[in-house]
Amino acid sequence: MHVVDAALPAGFIVDGFPVFCLERWQSLHETSAGLVLSESGGEPPSIEELERYGVNVEAVVRRLGLGYGWTKGLPRLRELIASRIYGDIVGAEHIVVTAGGAEANLLAVLATIAPSDLAIVDVPNYLQVWGLLAMRGARVYEYRRRSGDWSLEPGRLAELIDALRPKTVFVTNPNNPTGRAERSLDMLAEAAARHGTVLVFDEVYRGLELSGPRTPSILEAAESYGAVAVSTGSLSKTYSLPGLRIGWVATNNMQLAEKLWSVKDYTTISTSRPSEELAAAMLEAAADKLAERTRRIAARNLELLSTACGGDHVHRPEAGAFTLIHVKGDDAVVARELLRRHNILVVPGACMKAPGYIRVGLGIADEGRARDAYIKLCSALSGIRRG
Ligand SMILES: Cc1ncc(COP(=O)(O)O)c(C=O)c1O
Repeated sequence: MHVVDAALPAGFIVDGFPVFCLERWQSLHETSAGLVLSESGGEPPSIEELERYGVNVEAVVRRLGLGYGWTKGLPRLRELIASRIYGDIVGAEHIVVTAGGAEANLLAVLATIAPSDLAIVDVPNYLQVWGLLAMRGARVYEYRRRSGDWSLEPGRLAELIDALRPKTVFVTNPNNPTGRAERSLDMLAEAAARHGTVLVFDEVYRGLELSGPRTPSILEAAESYGAVAVSTGSLSKTYSLPGLRIGWVATNNMQLAEKLWSVKDYTTISTSRPSEELAAAMLEAAADKLAERTRRIAARNLELLSTACGGDHVHRPEAGAFTLIHVKGDDAVVARELLRRHNILVVPGACMKAPGYIRVGLGIADEGRARDAYIKLCSALSGIRRG
């Protein structure tokens, strides 16, 4: 086994495994960098803040169960996910609770793709599903969004489904790292229904819109057109609670729900029971307030960043607690120089199939800290540009 290049593990294969460039880049540097701007969600609220939002954390902690949980997930939590996240388009029986969106995506890949099946995958993206598909031995067609507005172009994707008839299409909506939220999903659902293609949408940034209405779940269009769809989600981004490691996978097809549950038996048996109980309390008392808090922080920080960088290179995302900055030259070199010379950690676009850009987090909660961070970043970037 060879050693992964600590500088940037893009494109590295270790014993047949594609290294997850973004996660490895973060793991290597996020505990030592002076200024961490590589996160994609909001900074987590303090326990005091949660209590102000109406969550009685102490009472929940006192009655925590420490046995194994329900393998499909705490029933009350699944009911809350069905009603609060999906507006009851699906019921609790269609949902499996997972260890974050990450395990939800793993279950979705294993349940819908067998070796040599054809999958279409949306890029640029958080390349977890892309890497899992490679490990699964799937045939992968990369569907590339065009830079600029980064639209999903549902008509173009629907035509591709008609032409290729893939087993599954994987989309991240709202998209990471482009922040584009696609709200017209009918054509896709129609095409998927025609060919029996499964639509798997990673919706972890749904509800974190900085402009425009809430992004609809793929489950809505799928229901209208008789397509089979899977939605993955989590409390990590929109609700700023990544440490709970609570996510879920939801589908409108009961047979697929059973299959997702069966895969879960092999991965983690059940999700952490204390986390499930805390998650249920958060969703019940404070879901809207937590989402509103993350949106407020990200929208304010986008303005601070645009002001600090002069606006012109900073992309304006529709959703997410991150944005892209266009850089001249090789984004991996820029990210490395930011880290080496200025102790600032950002994500190089090379780790997300978004060459020519760096991704910058908008999650810092304190306004003064955020302003200082972006002034530091923008002055470092202009220094790097000047050479
Ligand atoms: C699109 C997307 N999906 C899933 C995840 C995994 O997040 P978690 O497992 O914390 O929910 C991330 C994390 O950055 C992400 O950006």
